[in-house]
Amino acid sequence: MSNLLEEVRQKARTAGKRIVLAEGEEKRIVDAAVKIREQKIAEITLIGRRSVIMEINPAVADTDIRIADPDVIDYTPYAQTLYELRKAKGMTEEDAARLARNPLYLGVLMVKMGEADGMVAGSVNATGDVLRPALQIIKTAPGISTVSSCFIMLTKAKEYGKDGVLVFGDCAVNPNPTSEQLAAIAITSAATARSIAGIDPRVALLSFSTKGSAKHELVDKVTEAVALVHSLAPELKADGELQSDAALVPSVAALKAPGSDVAGTANVLIFPDLQAGNIAYKLVQRLGGAEAIGPICQGFNKPVNDLSRGCSAEDVVNVVAMTALQAM
Ligand code: ACO
Repeated sequence: MSNLLEEVRQKARTAGKRIVLAEGEEKRIVDAAVKIREQKIAEITLIGRRSVIMEINPAVADTDIRIADPDVIDYTPYAQTLYELRKAKGMTEEDAARLARNPLYLGVLMVKMGEADGMVAGSVNATGDVLRPALQIIKTAPGISTVSSCFIMLTKAKEYGKDGVLVFGDCAVNPNPTSEQLAAIAITSAATARSIAGIDPRVALLSFSTKGSAKHELVDKVTEAVALVHSLAPELKADGELQSDAALVPSVAALKAPGSDVAGTANVLIFPDLQAGNIAYKLVQRLGGAEAIGPICQGFNKPVNDLSRGCSAEDVVNVVAMTALQAM
């Protein structure tokens, strides 16, 4: 395990946060819950039938893991809260009663109602199904318009970023962000870089153009986002539009973006849309041999994170630790 993930687990131990795992009848999740309690990384609620959970891993009985058992739980307060939150959007009481029984909704409602500090799911559910209840119920943090995601990339290229560590956003949520959304992605990715990767963020908003070298409406979207970042977060070191070489390589930056306080030293890379971001992180991971930690969801009022369906129990432990840090 990387030093960074060790540090994240260590910091999470001091946070004392409560995380709900909605997919409590999945073996990797139950095994992870036991490890999390052994290592005192967070308090855990598993949503799932007690009998099934105990059969998967009897060691749960020796822990203080809380089990929200669908066979005994009283759904009334959850359904009522959901109905109140969503009735203006056309949700009926019947819809709310049905949806509250969906563990992904129940987990998010527990967070909303203060019974947990964050939720993690996605080992057996698609990204959209994990995020949609959270988008509807938990919503964005004050001042943040958009939920997005980033990856912490542990690359072998120590000359870039912080000893090879860079943050890439958004690689998993917003297919075609507006300038406003791009600005939110930049600001929240910088916050994640600081809180989880321990990086002092220097944010490059990427394009196929550097400082007006090309004219196109796609470039305008990026330059408008840069202006918004400067007005919304004037203290943040951010610049664009920059090509990726101008963002990363000092000699290229000196030629293409002289005077920029980010070009040549960027450690947070913001991609103009999801096609670019998703393709970029997978290429750096596969061709460059980088470890990709994420997707880390950012911008929620309380943290919710999506697991990869190929995740291991150890991956779940790491995502829970990151979620606990975000809840601090
Ligand atoms: N930030 C904030 N709020 C949002 C966002 C966002 N990014 N997206 C949607 N919302 C809000 C909507 O305004 C709506 O609010 P309301 O109902 O209170 O009015 C609510 O969330 C639900 O919106 P929907 O339109 O029902 O949700 P949608 O179907 O657009 O789903 C989702 C949102 C799931 C994030 C969608 O954009 C998506 O599927 N993104 C791509 C996910 C994906 O496939 N990623 C690639 C794989 S992951 C990987 O490779 C690592």
